[in-house]
Amino acid sequence: MSNYDVRDKVAVITGAGSGIGLGMARAFAAAGAKLVLADIETGPLDAAVAELTGVGHAAVGVRTDVSKLADIEALAEATMDTYGAVHVLCNNAGVGCAAPIGQTSLADWEWTLAIDLWGPIYGVKTFLPLIEQQGEGHINSTASMAGLLATASLGAYNVAKHGVVALMASLERDLRVAKSPVRASVLCPGPINTNIVRSERNRPADSAAQHIDTKQGERFWQMLTETLAQGMDPDDVGRLVLDAVQTGRFWVLTHPAMAGLVQAQVEAMTADGSLVRV
Ligand code: NAI
Repeated sequence: MSNYDVRDKVAVITGAGSGIGLGMARAFAAAGAKLVLADIETGPLDAAVAELTGVGHAAVGVRTDVSKLADIEALAEATMDTYGAVHVLCNNAGVGCAAPIGQTSLADWEWTLAIDLWGPIYGVKTFLPLIEQQGEGHINSTASMAGLLATASLGAYNVAKHGVVALMASLERDLRVAKSPVRASVLCPGPINTNIVRSERNRPADSAAQHIDTKQGERFWQMLTETLAQGMDPDDVGRLVLDAVQTGRFWVLTHPAMAGLVQAQVEAMTADGSLVRV
């Protein structure tokens, strides 16, 4: 495995105002990277920048809605204007909401896919040429274990996160075919103690109004809220992503034991064609 030193390299992290993105920002800053933090929420974004610059790290914040290509392009422009280069991109911003597929509103599909899937697509499209110009670098995207296994009650999120896993696996293979010096990786977290269960805080009111409440969705969200409260510290996840970038590792699993479920699904696929219970 190669060893990529991020000291004095420029790293852009989306969703950096909270949770896993903030954990990544802290980890990359501690390793000496110069940061551009992006988030849709300006209060937490400003607080993250103040925390890092307050202890001497190089960091700027750019208010960004990752579901808008123009915002991602403006983020790239601000990065180049500030530091004159970009080496690492972490497409991390994400949201979620729960409902059975049959009752998932189109607004829920569109909101989830726009941020969780189109955000990383816009990120790769916009930043890959800039990173390739450096002759080195890395793109990581945050998917989920929901990108490897589709549980009930979370259909739109599962579709988006399966898309992110496919995006990053395709990208990594394309980069190898092209003998590119740039690497790609995907983060598939299990339960992490963050604010994702309060995703609705950033949702436009007209979209939120079109969410369809279901008993199944509400029960799932309640269970998720309780599970994530006991979840891993997001700062530990940030350090795992830093390690993946440093070592050129593709898969970043926070809960490797959960991969056993993926293995069970693959075995059932050829054994009797059943869908394993998760
Ligand atoms: P979080 O809610 O603490 O952080 C997400 C950040 O994204 C927030 O700062 C939020 O303001 C920002 N954001 C939301 N919409 C945005 C938009 N349109 N443009 C820019 N920024 C936006 O949640 P968490 O958990 O840290 O989420 C980070 C990533 O981790 C997401 O992609 C999520 O799907 C993924 N993930 C989280 C897991 C968990 O257990 N917390 C498990 C698996 C994946």
